[in-house]
Amino acid sequence: MSLARMTELLQKAEAGGYGVGAFSVANMEMVLGAVKAAEELRAPIILQVAQVRLPYSPLEVFGPLMVAAAKKASVPVAVHLDHGMDLETAREALELGFTSVMIDASHLPLEENIRLVRQVKAAAEPFGAGVEAEVGQLAGSEDGSVDHAMIYSDPEEVQALYEQTGVDALALSIGNAHGVYKQEPRLHFGVLAEARTRVPIPLVLHGGSGISDEDFRKCIAGGVRKINVATATFQSVEQAVRAYCAEGGKDYFALSDAMVQGAYGNVSRHIKIFQSDNKA
Ligand code: 13P
Repeated sequence: MSLARMTELLQKAEAGGYGVGAFSVANMEMVLGAVKAAEELRAPIILQVAQVRLPYSPLEVFGPLMVAAAKKASVPVAVHLDHGMDLETAREALELGFTSVMIDASHLPLEENIRLVRQVKAAAEPFGAGVEAEVGQLAGSEDGSVDHAMIYSDPEEVQALYEQTGVDALALSIGNAHGVYKQEPRLHFGVLAEARTRVPIPLVLHGGSGISDEDFRKCIAGGVRKINVATATFQSVEQAVRAYCAEGGKDYFALSDAMVQGAYGNVSRHIKIFQSDNKA
């Protein structure tokens, strides 16, 4: 049990036909809440932090906390760098014990994306760690600071990137977006189906907050094995804190527990939708 490799969790999910939740966390309470949900539901999970969030949760401080929580867990927990932006940060995460890293060069021309993914693959290899990359561009950005236009993943580029890098998991743009959806998401399952015929590796759905249960199920049936959820957990934590304060709560430790419960509630809900409960 305990600290797991993302690649192994996703292989098992492929064999079992379910999805593994990759839950973004930003502090100890969120980590504790996510792991509590995983342990109660006997589910494998991925804990992740995005590079753009590191000013709030410094990697050298928060990374070891994530790894320690995974090691202590009674279920398999992988620790992942989400949306890595450069080789140096990916290396730092690997040295801290992260079992996978994403390098997101999807905004660069395909050849540049491939070049960077190959470098990160080479860096990850001595650690036995997995690498996730992305082809296409999601609307919005991880922290809401940029409003990217959406570019669907081109299945030919998906295949080229896989063949030229040997990457372990690939994130697709199929109409999903980061942050709060401005209108109801309309996913293009044809892009997913085409990508699946071209690459034999687990596919990744970013922008999990706001996707309907039915669409999650369709994505999983279509080969998505890792599903990223961030905004919904942050909102759930924030709401739990607001509710505690609205009741007149003034105790710091009860406030801390409200944060744990907020993360726990959202992570539990998604584990059940992804059907990864009782898969640990
Ligand atoms: P949401 O914030 O929309 O859930 O997206 C999470 C994500 O994709 C992190 O990479």
